[in-house]
Amino acid sequence: MDLEDTAFRLGVPVEDVERVQRLAGDRPSAPLPAKADAPGMLERLAVRPDDAAEIMAGWPDPDSPLWTPELRWLLDRSTALVRADLAGFDWLPPGPVLPRDRGPAWRHLYVYAYLALVDVVTAYHREHGIADAVSWVTLADLGRNLAVDRRMRGEGWPVMQSWLTLHARGGLYELGRLQHQRGDTAIGLHIPESGPLTPEAVAASLDEARAFFPRHFPEERYTEFSCGSWLLDPQLLEYLPEESNIVRFQRRFELEPYEEPEGLDADEEALRFVFRTLTTPLDQLPRNTTLQRAIVDHLKTGGHWRWRKGRFPV
Ligand SMILES: CC(C)(COP(=O)(O)OP(=O)(O)OC[C@H]1O[C@@H](n2cnc3c(N)ncnc32)[C@H](O)[C@@H]1OP(=O)(O)O)[C@@H](O)C(=O)NCCC(=O)NCCS
Repeated sequence: MDLEDTAFRLGVPVEDVERVQRLAGDRPSAPLPAKADAPGMLERLAVRPDDAAEIMAGWPDPDSPLWTPELRWLLDRSTALVRADLAGFDWLPPGPVLPRDRGPAWRHLYVYAYLALVDVVTAYHREHGIADAVSWVTLADLGRNLAVDRRMRGEGWPVMQSWLTLHARGGLYELGRLQHQRGDTAIGLHIPESGPLTPEAVAASLDEARAFFPRHFPEERYTEFSCGSWLLDPQLLEYLPEESNIVRFQRRFELEPYEEPEGLDADEEALRFVFRTLTTPLDQLPRNTTLQRAIVDHLKTGGHWRWRKGRFPV
């Protein structure tokens, strides 16, 4: 196995390939579901028809000409890399960001890895007594993210491919309105794009988590809920009304002193979540909602958004 040659053929830095080799070693991979079962599985994972069609078209059949030896190696080792960290709850890139314009095998390689891990992670869920309904609602974030990626014309995927390894390792659960990420002493809260963030829905989701974690992970002790987000930037208070859901969500948290986050640009995050584009000029972005106007006006007057971390007791 010549790692330099593999990296060259994949169009990625050799260090990225070395990392996959190092973390996956010869650990076990996992097989893809049977192709005949895939459409049903994609539907359960809320994958929209246009994305499902692409995924089926690129399916890694043993004789598919789309799948070069390097791509097959990466799919196998990336699956092994994520599987090796089953039960882990830190962010984990499953492998290098691949060029996306080379067809569905390249574009969806990490989706195939995710599909291969569905059986592994649902078995892990069952060992922890987690209901099927929670497993599938959690894993169906795949479909939601693929749809976002399509809206973003691929600009979203590098973040999303790492994000989805949380789901595939049993590190994160969708309980009602929020996603809850296991941690050392804090449950990390994430807010999917799934309708308004009403205080009632948030309260119900927190209550679910208060029951879920002691029941299914009794060896873990959580003392706090935490969140890191552009949504917690108090500068938003200057623009949003008191009764807005975002402001009411912010009020739950005690903020940590501001520290510049490493490798994360809050202006980019705000654009990602409010406009689902990172490259459209500010002048061409829509101004339909209070928040859209706030994000753009703040940036145009030279301001910057901040990614803030906060917490409150369980
Ligand atoms: C978090 C979220 C659900 C809040 O939406 P919400 O419950 O409508 O929030 P608010 O009540 O505070 O909205 C206040 C105003 O901002 C607008 N707004 C809120 N979120 C918006 C978004 N993502 N895009 C555009 N406008 C948005 C609302 O329409 C409202 O404007 P209006 O009064 O002119 O209609 C929503 O922003 C969202 O889906 N975000 C994407 C996911 C995300 O950001 N997750 C966090 C990742 S770190």
